[in-house]
Amino acid sequence: MSKTKETIKKLISKGEIARKITRLARQISKDYKDKNPFFVCLLKGGWVFSADLLRKIKIPVLIDFLMVSSYEDKTASTGRVEVKSPLSSSVEGKDILIVEDIVDSGLTVSKIKEYLYTLKPNSVKICALLDKPCRRKVEVELDYVGFEIPDKFVVGYGIDYAHKYRQLPYIGYVEFAGGSPSSEREVSAACKPR
Ligand code: IMP
Ligand code: MG
Repeated sequence: MSKTKETIKKLISKGEIARKITRLARQISKDYKDKNPFFVCLLKGGWVFSADLLRKIKIPVLIDFLMVSSYEDKTASTGRVEVKSPLSSSVEGKDILIVEDIVDSGLTVSKIKEYLYTLKPNSVKICALLDKPCRRKVEVELDYVGFEIPDKFVVGYGIDYAHKYRQLPYIGYVEFAGGSPSSEREVSAACKPR
């Protein structure tokens, strides 16, 4: 079996990300101005996005972190979404905004949304930096989206492939040479070239 070697190609620049975050933050600040916004950052992928988004928000917000896992070093979700460490503060009566790096099958955000509703918040909405709509397996409403992207496995800006590339300041996609782990992925009909 040949060894997989990957290269990273740029997809979204640092500047484009910054401009988009400024726009998202403006909209969120407006929509939540009379509420009790409580950001729930999904770790690990959502940390860089949350940090930049939070610093552009103009209203007081609370933030907490949920460590979730579903990938186990592969390029497609295992479908088992696990909360590895719970929130450290109460969200009862709060208006939660889940801050996520990327929505692919939709399983993670929909299961986390369900879980958060058991903690009796007033509302739960979702803000995702990236959305791969053609990979969806479950229907989920995304309230704020940075960029819709094609069916590429992306890294950078907090997002990893097998724990690598989180430190890149831009979003890139992975090109695999010598045997692609993309065979692990079930590409939905909508993603296939016509
Ligand atoms: P989903 O449950 O399939 O929607 O996947 C959501 C999670 O999988 C995200 O929180 C990411 O951490 C991870 N993920 C999805 N697509 C990618 C990707 O292209 N690169 C890296 N991680 C991804
Ligand atoms: Mg994530």
